[in-house]
Amino acid sequence: AANPEGTGNTGNPERLPLEFLFSPEFTRDPYAEYGRLREKGPVHPIDFPPGVSSFLVIDHEHGRAALSDPRLAKNLRNGPDLFRELAGGNPALAENLLSTDPPDHTRLRRLVSRAFTARRVESLRPRIQEITDRLIDTMAARGRADLLDDFAFPLPITVICELLGVPAGDRDDFRVWSATLVTPSLDEESVKRRDAVNTAIRAYFSGLIAERRAEPRDDMVSALVTASDEDELLSEPELIAMLTLLLIAGHETTVNLIGNGMLALLTHPGQLRLLQEEPELIPGAVEEFLRYDGPVERATLRFATEDLRIAGVRIPEGSMVQVSLGAAGRDPGAFDDPDALDVTRDGGHHLAFGHGVHFCLGAPLARLEARIAFGTLLRRLPDIALDCAPEQLEWRGSASIVRGLQALPVRF
Ligand code: HEM
Repeated sequence: AANPEGTGNTGNPERLPLEFLFSPEFTRDPYAEYGRLREKGPVHPIDFPPGVSSFLVIDHEHGRAALSDPRLAKNLRNGPDLFRELAGGNPALAENLLSTDPPDHTRLRRLVSRAFTARRVESLRPRIQEITDRLIDTMAARGRADLLDDFAFPLPITVICELLGVPAGDRDDFRVWSATLVTPSLDEESVKRRDAVNTAIRAYFSGLIAERRAEPRDDMVSALVTASDEDELLSEPELIAMLTLLLIAGHETTVNLIGNGMLALLTHPGQLRLLQEEPELIPGAVEEFLRYDGPVERATLRFATEDLRIAGVRIPEGSMVQVSLGAAGRDPGAFDDPDALDVTRDGGHHLAFGHGVHFCLGAPLARLEARIAFGTLLRRLPDIALDCAPEQLEWRGSASIVRGLQALPVRF
């Protein structure tokens, strides 16, 4: 087996300018650039502002190892000052599952893991199907739609709101909050906007928690309030952080699994036809969409708690390490002909849901939603087609966190 720490194969790391990773050309097609970088090695330093040492891992083997390496911590306390400042007072960044390490992480994850098992999630199937059908009913009569706004967004947000017990009527607010929080720009205006959103989120959830405390219901918010008040299993800031994370992670990602997956099909008509003829291929196709153009690209921040090496490249203590899940999905060392979309591929070992203790809690829910969404869309809108030239599509500029389109115009 390869030695992931091996010192002899550093390749020829290339310093990546941070601006480039946020540029429109890279956002549109990161995979071509990853292909070029791959020739030079699996790990590359990123040019962050002075004082921040940062590395990007782009291959499957070292990416997988890094995601489950206990020396790479999630807690921002281990990171550069810049990140500690970013986290200050931000319930989306601090004290949630994605910013804690064991044992805090273990305690927090245990509180919610039961609600997200494949079996529990399967019980939501009829309701997810009903929401899916209703959204398609509304679209079908019109003959055209923005598949993101009219379908891919409302489906997962409605499901996660119902699961948590958060009023779905407030979802327009959630959408604005979430879009603001997943845009990682550091200019003064963005920082101000993020602060305002954080204050709004804290106020919103504090209010909801007080309501459920006074009048508990049979929902996850009430269960977490009880766990906090009676069993002292989590603090109120941790409770707010948990709800914020579940709400955001519960929809920002699935929207783009549906959007990016549909775009892949609409631009590969042979694959679309195959799925229409053999709908039993849909579960495997969803895994292929996750590998081929998954919704989470580089949102895998970790911080080195000691000096270490990845593929021979020295990573000093305090460095930030990101694994590109998108690049790992296109690694020819892990997948044959990786740039081809093949819905019959056996590609379940992709890293699109992460790996290790932070493996996506919502994976069973995302898979179920996507299987129902693709199955129903292809059955009910058999002549669905892109309603613009592919070059006209615009990608959202927050590629480091979610990879997704601004809009996906379709006709049928
Ligand atoms: C964690 C991807 C849907 C909740 C993660 C991670 C990835 C990911 C890559 C790990 C990040 C890391 O290790 O740094 C995705 C994708 C989704 C999706 C691609 C959809 C296609 C969902 C949904 C939920 C969810 C529907 C709903 C609750 C979470 C949570 C974590 C997480 C709570 C943190 C787990 C932990 O740290 O223990 N997700 N996710 N995700 N995801 Fe998802």
